[in-house]
Amino acid sequence: MADVTFDNVAKKYGEVSVIESLNLHIDDGELMVLVGPSGCGKSTALRMIAGLEDVTGGTISIGGRAVNALPPRDRDIAMVFQSYALYPHMSVRENLAFGLKMRRVAAAEIEKRVTSAAEILGISHVLERKPKELSGGQRQRVAVGRAIVRQPAVFLFDEPLSNLDAKLRVQTRGEITRLQQSLGTTSVYVTHDQVEAMTMGHRITVMRDGKIQQVGTPREVYERPANAFVAQFIGTPPMNLIHATVDGGSLRAPSFAIPLGVQLANGTRVLAGIRPEDITRGDAIHATVDVVEPVGHESIVYATAGSEKLVAIFEPREAPRAGETISLSVAPERVHLFDEAGVRVN
Ligand SMILES: Nc1ncnc2c1ncn2[C@@H]1O[C@H](COP(=O)(O)OP(=O)(O)O)[C@@H](O)[C@H]1O
Ligand SMILES: [Mg+2]
Repeated sequence: MADVTFDNVAKKYGEVSVIESLNLHIDDGELMVLVGPSGCGKSTALRMIAGLEDVTGGTISIGGRAVNALPPRDRDIAMVFQSYALYPHMSVRENLAFGLKMRRVAAAEIEKRVTSAAEILGISHVLERKPKELSGGQRQRVAVGRAIVRQPAVFLFDEPLSNLDAKLRVQTRGEITRLQQSLGTTSVYVTHDQVEAMTMGHRITVMRDGKIQQVGTPREVYERPANAFVAQFIGTPPMNLIHATVDGGSLRAPSFAIPLGVQLANGTRVLAGIRPEDITRGDAIHATVDVVEPVGHESIVYATAGSEKLVAIFEPREAPRAGETISLSVAPERVHLFDEAGVRVN
């Protein structure tokens, strides 16, 4: 096993700088998720660990050893791609065995590892089939199996669930989490899906435009987002962000005021962040309900208060109806405060 370190890592494609200075430590045995919108540099970061991309500056280390100059095959990593990249003319068994054969692993050892991986993944009964004779979920398992049989120091996953339908995605993400737990192998998992990040990661690294926005446990990132971007990227529906001014003990927005839980100078302009689930019935905000989305265990309520749009979550039985006028509130200690540049201030 091994830890992974990015030390001042930079990446340029020609003249274009994609990552300026990445500093990140992934602990031995940890499942770290890199999450962020498309194009923010997640795959680039992962491919630099794998050695599929050179670094333009800085150092990447695996298990304390700088790997910048090592070719991919000497880095003791195994990668699972979004496109599973299975060999179509080979059986599942041959697909699983191929990497080991190339490394001249003894036949008996290959047999043992393939059998064990197939058992772990529940694909023992399809070992003689070709990839085209498999379901999407089975193909995905073969791709993971190919990584497992290598017994690498580090697993790298690049959006491995994107090609699965919603239900299978939820099931498979649980399987990968359990697998990582039982193998205890250091893993870096890239996704643009914040739910995947929150449910799978021991810690998550939120990225934007090639820069790390925040690193923390899912709970830390959810409860104390470092900035307005993270606040809106993590959590669904996204956090409400409202421009407001400190006025005595209140936060004054154009159409309502809510109590302020901390000391800030009068006149300070802030972005007040309120999670939809923290909005309750009360008397601070008078709003008209635009749309109600019943999603089963909760109802998502879209409302307008003067010039402000708000999203709130209600118990289905307590949800208002479209067109209704409602009065809402939020506990002051539940309000996240950001300065006008979006940096957290409370
Ligand atoms: N081979 C390449 N040549 C030039 N630009 C690239 C190349 N690969 C990626 N990029 C650019 O680098 C940025 C980050 O890409 P990527 O790491 O694939 O993002 P993500 O995986 O977060 O969606 C994007 O702007 C993308 O267009
Ligand atoms: Mg990508």
